[in-house]
Amino acid sequence: MSDDRRVVLVTGSTTGIGEACARVFGGCGDAVMVAGRHVARGRAVVDAIRAAGGRAEFAPVDLRVAGACDALVAETVARLGGLHVLVNNAGILYSASAVDTTDEQWLETMAVNVNALFYLSRAAVRQMRGQGRGAIVNVASEWGLNGEPNHVAYCASKGAVLQITRCMALDHARDGIRVNAVCPGEIHTRMVDEILAHKGGDAGENLRALAAGIPMRRLASPEEVAWCVHFLASERASYVTGTHLSVDGGNDATAGPYP
Ligand SMILES: NC(=O)c1ccc[n+]([C@@H]2O[C@H](COP(=O)([O-])OP(=O)(O)OC[C@H]3O[C@@H](n4cnc5c(N)ncnc54)[C@H](OP(=O)(O)O)[C@@H]3O)[C@@H](O)[C@H]2O)c1
Repeated sequence: MSDDRRVVLVTGSTTGIGEACARVFGGCGDAVMVAGRHVARGRAVVDAIRAAGGRAEFAPVDLRVAGACDALVAETVARLGGLHVLVNNAGILYSASAVDTTDEQWLETMAVNVNALFYLSRAAVRQMRGQGRGAIVNVASEWGLNGEPNHVAYCASKGAVLQITRCMALDHARDGIRVNAVCPGEIHTRMVDEILAHKGGDAGENLRALAAGIPMRRLASPEEVAWCVHFLASERASYVTGTHLSVDGGNDATAGPYP
């Protein structure tokens, strides 16, 4: 698949890792569909990409709504002329053990992190098959590879993302469609700030303690994940499918707390 003139849909691109992905793809010459619920932030991301000379549109969408995923893929094709790369980035997290997780939290986590990702991927493959090429990159998590106390719904959802990645890669390898995932570790976004706030205590001290437990001794920026997503979606990764790339400062290489 040539990397020229691609149309890229990035879900959850109003902020954080998704915003960084939208800016990286847009900066590299791709036409980007920015998507999320927050209209002002979405428009600001589009404005920034256009100001840098890129092409972008914004689609306000709540991925929990029935039919929203199929409609988003159709809107992307209609407004930008195709769909060559889908970045399934939108995700939510609740910090709770099994007994403290409500039915609503469980179902919402699955609705955004798993169901929407599947519906979007299915719709994207139908479009990409007709084009004879395509790439899907799912933003999973290191917590999809390993368990994490107090995050059962999130960990279960990200484990499912990795299995969807593997199965869809096998199903569609012969269609010219590659499906891969990234597994971010600790990336400094709103999501991490919320996890640390949930712990209580001093936010700065919590952040320093978190960094101290990572082999590279720091959190990553969203851009460091975005470039890995860009690589997996590019021709440079033309023989890579059905796998994940850890972007975690070395966390996944350790068997326990890093000294
Ligand atoms: N930060 C980390 O350390 C880390 C680590 C591992 C994996 N991840 C994964 O990376 C991805 C991005 O996370 P982040 O850290 O960048 O978090 P974030 O800043 O909270 O961004 C989450 C994005 O998801 C979108 N979103 C959430 N619910 C949605 C819904 N119902 N409909 C449409 N969009 C929705 C949000 O957009 P709106 O608010 O505009 O709807 C936002 O753009 C997630 O899948 C997360 O699980 C993050």
